Amino acid sequence: MERRRAAWAAVLVAVAACAALPATTTANKIKVNWLPNTNYSGWEQEHGPFYKGDWLVFYYTAGQADVVEVNESGYNRCDASNAIYNYSKGRSFAFELNETKTYYFICSFGYCPGGMRLAIKSQNLPPPSPPPSAQHHRSAALAGPRAGVALYAAVAVLAALLRAV
Ligand SMILES: *[C@@H]1O[C@H](CO)[C@@H](O)[C@H](O)[C@H]1NC(C)=O
Ligand SMILES: *[C@@H]1O[C@H](CO)[C@@H](O)[C@H](O)[C@H]1NC(C)=O
Ligand SMILES: *[C@@H]1O[C@H](CO)[C@@H](O)[C@H](O)[C@H]1NC(C)=O
Ligand SMILES: *[C@@H]1O[C@H](CO)[C@@H](O)[C@H](O)[C@H]1NC(C)=O
Repeated sequence: MERRRAAWAAVLVAVAACAALPATTTANKIKVNWLPNTNYSGWEQEHGPFYKGDWLVFYYTAGQADVVEVNESGYNRCDASNAIYNYSKGRSFAFELNETKTYYFICSFGYCPGGMRLAIKSQNLPPPSPPPSAQHHRSAALAGPRAGVALYAAVAVLAALLRAV
């Protein structure tokens, strides 16, 4: 009896925690198919806006592409020699936009002049109650992380129930 009560308490706590979570704690993961012979000039407009705390996850084929973070001049000149960071192992690379600034990424395998470069401006999250139009654009993107929170709560509840048996 005592245990069952504890389990229900855990359920309530999980539900309350879920409801109390502000939208700003959700981080977006934005997939980048990082492909040679691709012009990424319209990519930012299509996939943005980007906010501080969002993640870019580059998917690429090792040996055919790398992800090199450079500064603005490196981006404009497709010059990786002053790389801030470069990544070329595995098949994906996750990068957190943890500052509000413009990030520049290029590929150093010769595809940059053909358009394989990205300038991503990350901005602060909009205030809690943006006008409906802005909210609409953001809501679809938030569905993923919200589902993650719900899953986490469900797992926590399940764990509590198992302990109670
Ligand atoms: C980029 O870095 C290079 C080398 O450190 C530097 O000479 C150049 O001024 C920088 N450009 C910008 C726009 O910060
Ligand atoms: C990437 O980084 C490694 C070591 O940090 C360096 O040897 C290599 O030249 C870099 N490549 C590019 C394209 O910046
Ligand atoms: C952002 O991430 C980079 C690399 O992970 C780290 O070096 C830097 O200190 C971080 N900046 C902030 C403001 O957290
Ligand atoms: C990439 O696309 C943009 C916009 O369509 C265009 O202005 C630019 O010239 C293209 N770049 C290359 C290298 O084809």
